[in-house]
Amino acid sequence: MRGIILAGGAGSRLRPITLAVSKQLLPVGDKPMIFYPLSVLMLAGVRDILVITTPDDLPQFRRLLGDGSQLGLSIDYAPQSEPRGVADALLVGAEHIGDGGVALVLGDNIFHGHGFYGLLQENVRNVDGCVLFGYPVNDPERYGVGVTDSRGKLVALEEKPAVPTSNRAITGLYFYGNDVVEVARECRPSARGELEITDVNRHYMKEGRARLVDLGRGFAWLDTGTPASLLQAGQYVRVLEERQGVRVACVEEIALRMGFIDAETCYRLGKELEGSAYGRYVMDIAQEMPLEEYSGLRR
Ligand code: G1P
Repeated sequence: MRGIILAGGAGSRLRPITLAVSKQLLPVGDKPMIFYPLSVLMLAGVRDILVITTPDDLPQFRRLLGDGSQLGLSIDYAPQSEPRGVADALLVGAEHIGDGGVALVLGDNIFHGHGFYGLLQENVRNVDGCVLFGYPVNDPERYGVGVTDSRGKLVALEEKPAVPTSNRAITGLYFYGNDVVEVARECRPSARGELEITDVNRHYMKEGRARLVDLGRGFAWLDTGTPASLLQAGQYVRVLEERQGVRVACVEEIALRMGFIDAETCYRLGKELEGSAYGRYVMDIAQEMPLEEYSGLRR
């Protein structure tokens, strides 16, 4: 399974903050936003990742993440010259996807919740069609909205419906089988001029090959699209981190726990950031956590 992070877009609702900096590089708590979706792919065991962003922003993402080898990953970059929609990421990334499946995650989606590792591992294997993740929200009209039958099979799906048929938003994390590139090629731009991921998902729904996994109310799926929601997301992360003394989406820690890097490498990565509490946390993790406890992720 290969991974794609879509980190394009103009961040228009965050201007002027995003005039000179990509939205997905803005801080959420004490780390850049892209660490959160990157963590999701890592927890799913996906190590071969393509970051799609605007030609202007691409060098900054490369500066932040490099070729990924420091985290035991392989990270590549591809430009998307115009924001042509989420499904366009599958076309830009067609070569990267190759002949396997793909996990696509939107670069501004923040997920957090107990048992997420297990849920990802359960659903990332043997994907036939698509696996989507649903989350109850107050304002479903802003999202893709899905309805399932009693066995979790998707039976209705709409993009930003004026009158939503359910409160289950389709989050920005999608697992696909290999035929997704062909399906995306068949898509035509919507009224807002974009290739809609909802059209790709609807294709699988019609074939009875779309599953919707509920994240449930115990999860956090946070928005970062406006100044207020960006601040809220940062506060959420900070409250958890201060209370528990653990860090959310610390990519070095996840790389260590997943066995992508060893403790020595983790320590060295922390040392490079020693001037910050984040860096010192990474060093502590590398030094203190006995290997047996890494299976904590599996709980
Ligand atoms: C996109 C998708 C939508 C999904 C949302 C999740 O919306 O089109 O179905 O619910 O991401 O973040 P957009 O951000 O393009 O409005």
